[in-house]
Amino acid sequence: MWAGVERFTLRVCMLAAAVSGAFASLQMAKIRREGGSTVTSSTLAWVAGHGSELPPHAVVVTENDPATVWCRAEKHSNWMAGAMHSGVCTVPFLGNVLRIEDNFEILISVNGSARVRYENWDRYLAPPHNAVSADTKRFLAVREGEDDFPQAGFLAPHERRAHLVAGTAVEKVDEANVLVEDEPERYDLRAISMDTSRISKTHEDSVLAEAMLLNPGPSRQRVVEDREVVVRQMSYWGLIKGTYTGLPAHVVSPPPEAEERDLVWGVRNELDRVYQDLLEYDLPPGTGVKVKMIGTVRKTEAQYVGTLTAVYKDGSQTSRVIQGLHIDERLVLLRAQYSPPYFIHNNTQLDIPEQTSVLYKSTTTTTTTTTTTTTTTTTPEPPRMSMVGPEKPKSDSLSTTSQREVVVGFNSSARTMFPTLALLVALALATLSVAYP
Ligand SMILES: *[C@@H]1O[C@H](CO)[C@@H](O)[C@H](O)[C@H]1NC(C)=O
Ligand SMILES: *[C@@H]1O[C@H](CO)[C@@H](O)[C@H](O)[C@H]1NC(C)=O
Repeated sequence: MWAGVERFTLRVCMLAAAVSGAFASLQMAKIRREGGSTVTSSTLAWVAGHGSELPPHAVVVTENDPATVWCRAEKHSNWMAGAMHSGVCTVPFLGNVLRIEDNFEILISVNGSARVRYENWDRYLAPPHNAVSADTKRFLAVREGEDDFPQAGFLAPHERRAHLVAGTAVEKVDEANVLVEDEPERYDLRAISMDTSRISKTHEDSVLAEAMLLNPGPSRQRVVEDREVVVRQMSYWGLIKGTYTGLPAHVVSPPPEAEERDLVWGVRNELDRVYQDLLEYDLPPGTGVKVKMIGTVRKTEAQYVGTLTAVYKDGSQTSRVIQGLHIDERLVLLRAQYSPPYFIHNNTQLDIPEQTSVLYKSTTTTTTTTTTTTTTTTTPEPPRMSMVGPEKPKSDSLSTTSQREVVVGFNSSARTMFPTLALLVALALATLSVAYP
């Protein structure tokens, strides 16, 4: 059984190595969160060192010395942190200085996406938020020696001491600077171009709401209902190695949409939008129509390239070109479909064809797109009715939308209605249950 597990692990490792190519043994670093848990960094990683050769974006110990970078080495299955210079990783280990030449790892910023800084620590403080760890019990720490030469090593929180290499000796100190990953405050994504060769667009129709317009009176009337529908839309930009999911992001998307949106980075942003529309029908006496509000939602999935700028608390920024996946779902067409009118008392349809009117049309819709269109009936809101009350002054002139309608709700207003009206409503309800089983 154990052999099986090992083989499996080995296979997974080989697969990982094959996938990451140049960074054959890249392993994302762990950072400490407030409270003591550790999470995997999305921007910092450890890679195997090869002599004095520095991998791209190796993290330097101090900015004045680009040739000395952070390293770690394993000893008795513990990882010790220290500084690598000229192919030698020097780490403190149980009071001794170890100089390791052939088996160490170097801390890198994946594609230059990380920003790090130092935070002061002393023995009365917990390790800082986002402290970079060599393993679960050791965090990268440094202090300036007497000769301005940095003394690198690690903080061991359980001892409340930092172990640092000072020349040929290890010093255990009460104060040090701990390396922390600086998290941006927000992102800005612009200069986006979609990979048109790998774009998928589908359109889907669904019934968003249903309504009934009724004219129980003895004269022809224009029946109007003001109807609101909520359309669920979605936007996603992500997910790039070396970015933080959940940060606020300002995205300037390219034409044809050409819109600016404030979103949450790396998650599906649900952007509900309310459309307010008038449903209206010129109804002969004693008739009604059923109305379906049908929305066409376009779903786009595309690879994109864009410039991502990370903005930090202090206002500083770093920009880089990224490649990622974009998913967008939006309403491109909303239409009202009116059934042929029917007599309310016997449910017989009049010889008038079904009618459709466009309530909303996206200005960026290209009418020539031929894509799969499927109709699904999502759970629409229960139908509502609008009708012209029989007590209204009778007039054959076609009324306008300014005319006051009696909008009849299903539960609330039923008790206060006139008996005749209540009867009509009951009749209409019966019709309704036949029409929408
Ligand atoms: C660095 O970025 C390039 C291009 O965006 C990407 O292909 C590559 O996988 C990235 N490297 C890592 C280690 O994520
Ligand atoms: C329903 O009523 C209308 C108008 O009163 C009438 O013209 C029609 O023939 C009736 N239909 C049936 C099936 O009785």
